[in-house]
Amino acid sequence: MIRSKLIAGNWKMNKDIHETVTLVNEIKERVKSLETSPAEASVDIVICPPFISLVVAAGLIKGTQIKLAAQNMYYQNDGAYTGETSARMLKAVGCEYVILGHSERRQYFEETNELINLKIKQALSNKLTPIICVGETLEERVSGVTDQIITTQVKGVLSGLTMQEIEKIVIAYEPVWAIGTGKTATTDQANQVHKLIRKLVSQLYSWAIAEKLIIQYGGSVNAQNAFELLSQSDIDGALVGGACLKSDSFTSIIGSAIEAMKK
Ligand code: 13P
Repeated sequence: MIRSKLIAGNWKMNKDIHETVTLVNEIKERVKSLETSPAEASVDIVICPPFISLVVAAGLIKGTQIKLAAQNMYYQNDGAYTGETSARMLKAVGCEYVILGHSERRQYFEETNELINLKIKQALSNKLTPIICVGETLEERVSGVTDQIITTQVKGVLSGLTMQEIEKIVIAYEPVWAIGTGKTATTDQANQVHKLIRKLVSQLYSWAIAEKLIIQYGGSVNAQNAFELLSQSDIDGALVGGACLKSDSFTSIIGSAIEAMKK
């Protein structure tokens, strides 16, 4: 089956409001000329600026094919949680997606599979599509436990999700050792883990659901390596860090997704 490809730019903690305006306008201009529905399925484009720029970014992309995501959220909708932002609030400013469980959140903010699971449920009940990140560290890969780690993470974060809910998620495989390091997983390494994730979802739910699941790859994706990665059978998109901070490399990755889709 042909799945759509989803290219999302995770800006992380980069770009102030002025730089946001410049970057979004540049992306908008470059994306205009792209034919993002080259086959039966399409290439979907998402930008994930910092919280503080979401409202402005939402205004700038109105009427375009670019969609908006946040990089995190809390699992309660309202209340005395100083400094936090809820799914309801993200939805209200025009977000359609939210990245959850990014390895930087797991590493620096001690997010666990249990917490990420609560956030996923809250995102879904507010009709936000969670982009759920999983991935092994270098130590884990070297010691040969990648499959176990991915299995534990996938089962943990998806725990208790219904058949209907599971159809509305995206998973991003981001090997921690490939993030911001310039080291990309080989296409084979990545595709194998993507196949494992799809198999896990088929065992937990059904093959019909697993077959439709969008699984992105993330970790040093750039304009040079995107086409090869995106041409793999089970790689349905990219979660791009560094290379999304420049409009030319980000749109070139979108272009690679379009080309890969035509194959
Ligand atoms: P880089 O593309 O900078 O390696 O970051 C990947 C990432 O963490 C996207 O979420």
